[in-house]
Amino acid sequence: MSATSRERFQSSLRRARKIAVLTGAGVSAESGIPTFRGAGGLWRRYQATSLASPEAWQRDPGLVWEFYNHRRERALGCRPNPGHHALARLEARFREAGGVFTLITQNIDGLHEQAGARDLVRLHGSLWQVRCLSCGSVTENRGVPITPAFAGSGSPDPETRARRFTAAELPHCSCGGVQRPHVVWFGEALKESDLAAAAAGVDGCDLLLVVGTSAVVYPAAGFVPLAKRHGALIAEINVEPSAVTSLCDFVFTGGAGEILPSLLDLAPALAP
Ligand code: OAD
Repeated sequence: MSATSRERFQSSLRRARKIAVLTGAGVSAESGIPTFRGAGGLWRRYQATSLASPEAWQRDPGLVWEFYNHRRERALGCRPNPGHHALARLEARFREAGGVFTLITQNIDGLHEQAGARDLVRLHGSLWQVRCLSCGSVTENRGVPITPAFAGSGSPDPETRARRFTAAELPHCSCGGVQRPHVVWFGEALKESDLAAAAAGVDGCDLLLVVGTSAVVYPAAGFVPLAKRHGALIAEINVEPSAVTSLCDFVFTGGAGEILPSLLDLAPALAP
């Protein structure tokens, strides 16, 4: 990262009154959570729609739960990395100075929350919440395995024809209904209130940080051109170019866990 680019960025950060941050899987990569599209990414190994879509659920809810149980198992031992912590510190410092800060994440792993993020919009839901298909109630559930039947089930194999789990082995609500992961699947709409909160955070922001996302999934990726149209400066932190790099005023190449602390913590206190 060149000193001038970093200094120009930090001077923009110092002047900003409203900041938005959009994060993707890359911010959690250094915590040990796999991304989707890069080397070792989930969608390199699995076809997304065979595990994360309403059709997949219709076909075999046990297979879908096996996939999410496996992701929960992997995420359970993961901790926020210095990138998550740097964003949480920026939020706290920025708020204290009277600024408006919105963190918009596509991640479902819960690591921003663990690091202390407060004003967080989880566009794609949470790995740690389940939703009842009968009564609609959303509950926290950190159980791994999700039910005893899933103990040691490992990673799913969508090619297997035989159903491995019965309806009785799926998680159930106290009302008796079957529970599904409270996440957004391919082909599903995002929650209106989340979209509105994200749009409000981006609207009129002085600076948008785009961290660790390939920016190919909409509507999340659309917040970058939206911020640009509204005159915000855009800074990208990523190990490689993304679909929105050409819109960015600052591009910092490297791991979020390494770049964010040095970029954000060195920024002088916000002007009064
Ligand atoms: P992707 O896997 O598409 O992109 C991850 C991005 O992180 C890439 O641009 C990598 O270059 C970058 N990256 C990898 N390691 C990094 C590091 N240490 N520091 C910074 N950047 C790093 O993941 P997303 O963009 O989050 O949606 O994917 C968006 C959505 O697609 C996900 O929320 C998920 C997926 O399908 C749903 O499941 C609905």
